[in-house]
Amino acid sequence: MQGIKTLGQFIIEKQADFPYAKGELSRLLRDIGIASKIVNREVNKAGLVDILGEAGTVNIQGEGQKKLDVFANTQFIAALTSGGECCIVATEEEEEFVPIDSPVSKNAKYIVCIDPLDGSSNIDCNVAVGTIFSIYRRKSVDGMATLEDVLQKGTEQVAAGYVIYGSSTMLVYTTGKGVNGFTLDPSIGEFCLSHPNMRIPADGKIYSINEGNYVHFPEGVKKYLKYAQVEDAATGRPYTSRYIGSMVGDIHRNLIKGGIYMYPTTSSSPNGKLRLLYECNPMAFIIEQAGGVASDGFNRILEIEPKALHQRVAIFIGSEKMVRVAEQLMAEYS
Ligand code: AHG
Ligand code: MN
Ligand code: MN
Ligand code: MN
Repeated sequence: MQGIKTLGQFIIEKQADFPYAKGELSRLLRDIGIASKIVNREVNKAGLVDILGEAGTVNIQGEGQKKLDVFANTQFIAALTSGGECCIVATEEEEEFVPIDSPVSKNAKYIVCIDPLDGSSNIDCNVAVGTIFSIYRRKSVDGMATLEDVLQKGTEQVAAGYVIYGSSTMLVYTTGKGVNGFTLDPSIGEFCLSHPNMRIPADGKIYSINEGNYVHFPEGVKKYLKYAQVEDAATGRPYTSRYIGSMVGDIHRNLIKGGIYMYPTTSSSPNGKLRLLYECNPMAFIIEQAGGVASDGFNRILEIEPKALHQRVAIFIGSEKMVRVAEQLMAEYS
């Protein structure tokens, strides 16, 4: 086994880093890893089995659910229920949070917020999709955990991560001590450490935004796009535009290569599109831990006080220098 470190081994090795190391968080992370392998199996054979297309239902976001949205949601909730470390799951696919009321979860200390399948619009055409998760410790000490336990600021996260089901499948996570990435080796069915101590370049040349919404963007974003497209040898502009439409895929690429990902407010989504609890906060925690910045255009994402489970927020996230320029233009023009 020389040279290979599995996710399971790595989690146990790092357990001592947690201030309250009783193994529960380690088990929780392990359970998420197992569920993601099951989802990966279905995503990989999606064209061969009847799991593509619409489920025929609409979620609380008003989005038509895909069969894989529903499958991934069920798998993660099942894994978190049987693991016994989690007392509440808040998920994109369910209007209310899901209390885990099983005998093993009675005294569970952790809350999980999850986007079970990110990039639904890409499922049917074999483009990378993902899973995003965020973990908090519950605040209340006894009884059933409550909505207040879920509505914590992003700064309170104890761990966050994503899985990208791409040309290879990777799990990337942080517990607040840097970011590590693991690639699934299908021949042994294990996530193996492939990207230790990931750092996002301080500057980059890639911008990612759904530019089709241009007319609806705030003035500061329009100015940033002009800035990105103007020729300037010193800063390597014009930048390159890359937009997959799976937040996980777009941010993962920018984490590795350097870049900025933006989903601003638009006139049709006045609060932004992406969800604070299970999309923006976990990605913000990971990118900050990798040395980058995550902002709503004016303030740090992680310091936003959540008011509702499915709250949406604008996001500007990625390489520090690029996000700071976008913030300056937002402050000046929006
Ligand atoms: P989800 O599939 O979990 O609902 O998330 C979709 C999100 C995100 O993944 C992506 O970056 C963004 O929506 C794409 O939105 P547009 O199609 O409006 O660009
Ligand atoms: Mn999503
Ligand atoms: Mn989703
Ligand atoms: Mn969705």
